[in-house]
Amino acid sequence: MSTPHPDLSEESLVEILKQAQTYNIAHEISGFLLSTHDQLIQLIEGKEDDVRELFEIIRKDRRHHHIQIENEVHSDCRSIPFFGMGLCFTYLVENLDYHFYFTKEEAQQLNGLIDGKIGKLFQEYLV
Ligand SMILES: Cc1cc2nc3c(=O)[nH]c(=O)nc-3n(C[C@H](O)[C@H](O)[C@H](O)COP(=O)(O)O)c2cc1C
Repeated sequence: MSTPHPDLSEESLVEILKQAQTYNIAHEISGFLLSTHDQLIQLIEGKEDDVRELFEIIRKDRRHHHIQIENEVHSDCRSIPFFGMGLCFTYLVENLDYHFYFTKEEAQQLNGLIDGKIGKLFQEYLV
């Protein structure tokens, strides 16, 4: 969870999404990023070393701050059914020329995302 830099636009988040698709797929990482007006909530899943390595990259990214880990779970099964990254804005976004992000309704369909302990956090923002 983190606080976006005030200058971090929806377009910049889409740029992050595009870049993250390549990186995450190459490292067999699944990610899901929820963007509210004033918070970023991300779930990252994969092999522990890969996740820690990516977290260190993301932690140094100056486009957000107050970065904190809310929950860390060791499990054999994933919540997100794809490698790469999903992005969902919890508010209405217009004129964004990129359609590979999730609507709130679509994100709610990813049951794994809203189940369990981590899911509770996502659910709060997806209602
Ligand atoms: C909230 C947030 C989440 C991010 N998630 C990912 C991610 O899942 N995968 C990824 O490759 N980059 C992600 N990034 C981008 C990285 O922080 C970084 O910019 C990117 O890996 C490029 O790094 P480089 O400029 O050192 O090449 C995220 C950035 C932010 C601000």
